[in-house]
Amino acid sequence: MRLFTTIAGLRAHLNSLFKDQTIGLVPTMGALHMGHASLIKRAIAENQITVVSIFINPLQFAPTEDLQKYPRQFTQDCQLCEQLGVDVIFAPTPETMGIAKNTDTQTNSLTTTVVPPQQMTSVLCGSFRLGHFQGVATIVTKLFTIIAPTVAYFGEKDAQQLAIIRQLVKDLNLNIDIRGCPTVREPSGLAYSSRNQYLTQQEKEQAVILSKSLKYAQESFAQGERDSQTLMTRVREQLKTVPEINIQYIELVHPTTLMPLEKITDSGLLAIAAHLGSTRLIDNVILRQR
Ligand code: PAJ
Repeated sequence: MRLFTTIAGLRAHLNSLFKDQTIGLVPTMGALHMGHASLIKRAIAENQITVVSIFINPLQFAPTEDLQKYPRQFTQDCQLCEQLGVDVIFAPTPETMGIAKNTDTQTNSLTTTVVPPQQMTSVLCGSFRLGHFQGVATIVTKLFTIIAPTVAYFGEKDAQQLAIIRQLVKDLNLNIDIRGCPTVREPSGLAYSSRNQYLTQQEKEQAVILSKSLKYAQESFAQGERDSQTLMTRVREQLKTVPEINIQYIELVHPTTLMPLEKITDSGLLAIAAHLGSTRLIDNVILRQR
């Protein structure tokens, strides 16, 4: 018999029982694109077994949001996963995940049970998408519990989501290594997103201003600008050059804590959300001293 009084000791022992068999998980909502593919390729390169979950999570959509029209292309997604060399796809029904819709009230039978720190959910997207990150945290925790991955991959495109998941793993002592992956962009600079399918060709061209404005701020930062207001104003001015862009927020926060920054000392997350027609787009850049 072995006795452990530390978590690290216990885990090291338990891990030794599963020598070298690592499981990489890529949680997605499907409608897979090049951004998802980059996470999947990395998972395959770094693990023995790669699991991709495809689940459009009702808990993270507000009643006014696009749950009904969210793109669904399951057959195509499976083909891409197969081509990339994925070992397992996990595509549960809402019932399997314990999220059955109550058709009378249109409410979920399962409310969110995982509540990330309020200061991380009340900024950026969290202040406009009430309950969204509780929905994400709940479903991701369920996926972690079900699949028990060694490593899970998330995109920096959703920087707030990534920061919250990292915090969640820390707070709940989950033995999962969270790896953030860089945002993959179209040649124009537009970040790949399942929601780009909603955009017309003209809107896609207009949407390029999001990444362009962030690049502009990045150049200012490289030239020594550290003041948040100044950097945010530069972004705002750029975004204003495309009148069709409806800015929801421009914020500069610490990439780990998501606390608003007045000045960047080591690094800052400059994030924006904007509507183009009825489509909501987000993008961000990490400003970091080299
Ligand atoms: P989804 O939007 O499908 O994204 C799945 C993963 O792909 C996320 O980690 C996201 O950050 C990453 N991703 C999306 N676009 C990317 C891009 N252009 N470059 C790099 N990575 C990109 O995020 C979700 O699903 C859900 O909230 C989920 C975590 C699955 C929970 O339901």
